[in-house]
Amino acid sequence: MQVLKSLEELRAWRKQLKGSLAFVPTMGNLHEGHLKLVDLGRQRADAVIVSIFVNPLQFGANEDLDSYPRTFAADCQALVERGAAAVFAPTVADMYPRGLAQQSYIEVPDISDILCGASRPGHFRGVATIVAKLFNMVQPDLAIFGEKDYQQLQVIRLMSKDLSLPVKVIGMPTERAADGLALSSRNGYLTATERQQAPLIYATLQTIAAQLKAGSAIESAVAEATERLQQGGFRIDYLSVRRRNDMAEASSNDNELVIVVAAYLGKTRLIDNLQVTR
Ligand code: PAF
Repeated sequence: MQVLKSLEELRAWRKQLKGSLAFVPTMGNLHEGHLKLVDLGRQRADAVIVSIFVNPLQFGANEDLDSYPRTFAADCQALVERGAAAVFAPTVADMYPRGLAQQSYIEVPDISDILCGASRPGHFRGVATIVAKLFNMVQPDLAIFGEKDYQQLQVIRLMSKDLSLPVKVIGMPTERAADGLALSSRNGYLTATERQQAPLIYATLQTIAAQLKAGSAIESAVAEATERLQQGGFRIDYLSVRRRNDMAEASSNDNELVIVVAAYLGKTRLIDNLQVTR
C-alpha cells in the first residue's frame, strides 16, 4: 500500500494509476464500518484509496478536534489487510495553505442549517469544502460514505450534483455492534455504563419505524420515543422524522422517510438514523 503524505505524491500516484478508482474519505481511527466501505470500493473499482485527515474546518470551537482519536499506524495496518491500494494523509498546512480563515468554502443551502447543522454551525460547510477539495485532489470515479452520517451523505450528494462533480457518490448501510449500536469513533468516549445504555438509541429508532409502518402518527411516535430515551439517560439534541431526500420535516403525505436522532450520553454526542418506507 502506498502512503501518500503530500498533494504532489498523490498527484504522481494518481497519474500512473490504470483502471477505475474508488475513494473512501475518513478522519482515521478506522473501525469495521470504515473497512466495510473499503471492501465495497474493492468490489466496485479496480483500486481503493482512503484519505485520513481530521478536518479542523468542520469542528466547532468547543468540539473535540484536539481529543479526536488519532491512530495512524493501526489504521494503515488495517488498510493493508483489507487491500487498499493507497492512503492519503495530508497535513493541515497542505489542505489549507492560506489558513482556515482565508479558505474559500462551499455551502450547500438549507440542508446545512438543520438538525446537526443547527447544533454545529459551520459543520457542513467544513464537510462540503473538504470533500470537494479531496474529490479534486484524488479524482476518483466513485466515493463511498457511511449512512450513519445520513445528513452528511445528503449534503455531499447535493453538493456533487450542484457543482457537476464527476464522482458517483455511494452510501453504505450502517455497520452495527451485535447489540445494535452504530459503530463510530466517538463510541470510544463512552464509559462502561454509558456503553451499556447506548443501544437504546437504535432500539428506539426501530420502535418508531414499526409504529409508523403500523399507521401511527409521527407526533405520537416521536413523543413516546423521546420519553423513553430521556428515561434511559439520554439528553436529546433532536429526534425527528424527515423526508429522505432533502431532510425537510415529514408530513403525513410523505412515505420515503428517515428517522434521525442526535443525543448525548454524558459528554458524548451520538447520532443514528433509520430509513422507513410506509
Ligand atoms: O465522515 C467523516 O469522517 C468526515 O466528515 C469526512 C467525510 C471524512 C470529511 O472530513
